[in-house]
Amino acid sequence: MKIIKIHSYIVLIILSITVQINSQICSKIPQYGECSTNSACGYFHITGANNNTGICGFRWLACSRLVLCNSSDNSCSQHNTTCVQHPQCNDLPVCYPVTMTDQSICPPMKNKINLKWKQNAITVAGGNGKGQELNQLYYLYEIFIDKNKNIFIADNYNHRIVEWKYNTQEGQIIAGGLGKGNRTDQLDRPTDIIVDQQNHSIIIADLGNRRVIQWFNQSQQIIIQNIDCWGLAMDKNGFLYVSDTIKNEVRRWKMEEYNNEGIVVAGGNGKGDQLNQLNYPSFIFVDEDLSVYVADWYNHRVMKWRKDAKEGIVVGGGNLNQLSSPHGVIVDELGQIYVADSHNDRVMRWCEGDEEGEIVIGGNGQENQPNQLFGSTGLSFDDERNLYVADRVLGRVQKYLLDI
Ligand SMILES: *[C@@H]1O[C@H](CO)[C@@H](O)[C@H](O)[C@H]1NC(C)=O
Ligand SMILES: *[C@@H]1O[C@H](CO)[C@@H](O)[C@H](O)[C@H]1NC(C)=O
Ligand SMILES: *[C@@H]1O[C@H](CO)[C@@H](O)[C@H](O)[C@H]1NC(C)=O
Ligand SMILES: *[C@@H]1O[C@H](CO)[C@@H](O)[C@H](O)[C@H]1NC(C)=O
Ligand SMILES: *[C@@H]1O[C@H](CO)[C@@H](O)[C@H](O)[C@H]1NC(C)=O
Ligand SMILES: *[C@@H]1O[C@H](CO)[C@@H](O)[C@H](O)[C@H]1NC(C)=O
Repeated sequence: MKIIKIHSYIVLIILSITVQINSQICSKIPQYGECSTNSACGYFHITGANNNTGICGFRWLACSRLVLCNSSDNSCSQHNTTCVQHPQCNDLPVCYPVTMTDQSICPPMKNKINLKWKQNAITVAGGNGKGQELNQLYYLYEIFIDKNKNIFIADNYNHRIVEWKYNTQEGQIIAGGLGKGNRTDQLDRPTDIIVDQQNHSIIIADLGNRRVIQWFNQSQQIIIQNIDCWGLAMDKNGFLYVSDTIKNEVRRWKMEEYNNEGIVVAGGNGKGDQLNQLNYPSFIFVDEDLSVYVADWYNHRVMKWRKDAKEGIVVGGGNLNQLSSPHGVIVDELGQIYVADSHNDRVMRWCEGDEEGEIVIGGNGQENQPNQLFGSTGLSFDDERNLYVADRVLGRVQKYLLDI
């Protein structure tokens, strides 16, 4: 009886199979890694060019049911099976029934994989037109959300950094805001920030002044000069990374050793679109393995440079015109890469090795409706995985609630 029930159910769910195969997970999940609230399910690497995609399926199918994939092209001639790695059954890849990956059998672990967000956002900062009032933002760039959901914003055309405390109607100026200028208490079109809450300091890419400057509560210290800085990042060891839009490189400095030249960790081979080059790098991200992700603005791609690599790999955009002027980039612990695709007014998600990204937010036109963006530039998550996007032209920060 039970078996018959399952089979008729499978017929009902077959239509969703295609969707299942497409909803990939990045390779950072190990073979048989946890992927579902059902602990009998595990992650199977899909056999192919690389291990960047996989499926979440029931782990304990009888090995005898699984035939080998066609060894010449890893295809499966049986209907509705796909070729996966399953070393517990066979060293060679086997054909696995995709019906056993259905969400009714392996409900996805929410909060981790294939997250989705409600497409209608809540405006949590700005949204009151362009201007310099405290409730306004003017062509903002990068944003940062802290543990308490306070929002820090590089308010570019207002030459200031503002903090919007959680659930407030206006921001407060925490750096700059004294007009465009080159005094140490002024800023000139800041693009990016690193908020160090332990030390009550912020590090600012002060683009127009060609310097990286650290602000403490009431004082400032220029830490790097003569640099066409745009993006900033700090790794787990406290090293500082800065992108340089004119030298077309990213450099890294050891903390407190900002007097030396730092070392190049991406690009540095002139302007161009080769794998060892960049063209106007904007925002950057550094992961646990110290790989550097670079929004390679004029090349409309995102590059990943592993530590000590001599060239990068394309992990987003590049050839299929899928990205237009990428800006903010963040990578989660599973290796999913989120990119603010600014001229397409949307946010995309990639896994390394993907041919195509997937739209997670926006792409619905440039008006000021809650599901629209006009020049998405900055990205940040809060501790509940709500997603925040800097909506540059409309001068607002949009919060997208996690859709569970
Ligand atoms: C993919 O993973 C399998 C084990 O699951 C491993 O044997 C193989 O070398 C990996 N391939 C690549 C290209 O990393
Ligand atoms: C395996 O794939 C090759 C190439 O597509 C094909 O020529 C061959 O017939 C396939 N073998 C089987 C057993 O399906
Ligand atoms: C395989 O799946 C398709 C739908 O994707 C369905 O039409 C077909 O009947 C299935 N074949 C078998 C043998 O289950
Ligand atoms: C700072 O700005 C003033 C006025 O615009 C200018 O005269 C001066 O040369 C600038 N100083 C530096 C170091 O750029
Ligand atoms: C922040 O403070 C810690 C100690 O609390 C110190 O080790 C670290 O160097 C400081 N970082 C910066 C950037 O000043
Ligand atoms: C910053 O300085 C002001 C004025 O000196 C003081 O009132 C405030 O408490 C300080 N804030 C922090 C976080 O230290």
